[in-house]
Amino acid sequence: MSRRQFLSYTLGGATAFMGAGMIVPMLRFAVDPVLQPKTEAAWVKVVEETKITETPASFKFKVHQVDGWWESDPELEAWISKDKAGNIFALNPTCKHLGCTVDWNSNPAFKDQYYCPCHGAHYTADGKNLAVAPLPLDQYELKTENGFVYVGQLGPNKRAQ
Ligand code: FES
Repeated sequence: MSRRQFLSYTLGGATAFMGAGMIVPMLRFAVDPVLQPKTEAAWVKVVEETKITETPASFKFKVHQVDGWWESDPELEAWISKDKAGNIFALNPTCKHLGCTVDWNSNPAFKDQYYCPCHGAHYTADGKNLAVAPLPLDQYELKTENGFVYVGQLGPNKRAQ
């Protein structure tokens, strides 16, 4: 081996070793949140069960979200009511047309319905889409415990199939 080859191999190896020592931690830092196991969404206490009636009412609540390295506590809204059998359910007010916010009983032409002011979508109390919107309002998982209503994961509407 010539002296030139020896220096070339030695310096190349040392450079590669030092480069790997810098790049591996950076890669790990970048992808670590993706590798973490997903945790189940926690239940959030929203309101006393006694305050829920057959007329939907809006309740605000905060959820703790972790998105990669970003943590936040956005305020969300659920319209909660109960049916004639006493089953409590919670709907998300985001219109399934283009994402505006629906309101209960806000248009006299659509009495006892959710109405979206943006393009006129309207929904039944169960969230079933009656016009404009292609899908029913999304529904939160819900449980009652010790007299309080808790909401969980948001998903497709199970009442308005
Ligand atoms: S966003 Fe609600 S009707 Fe278009």
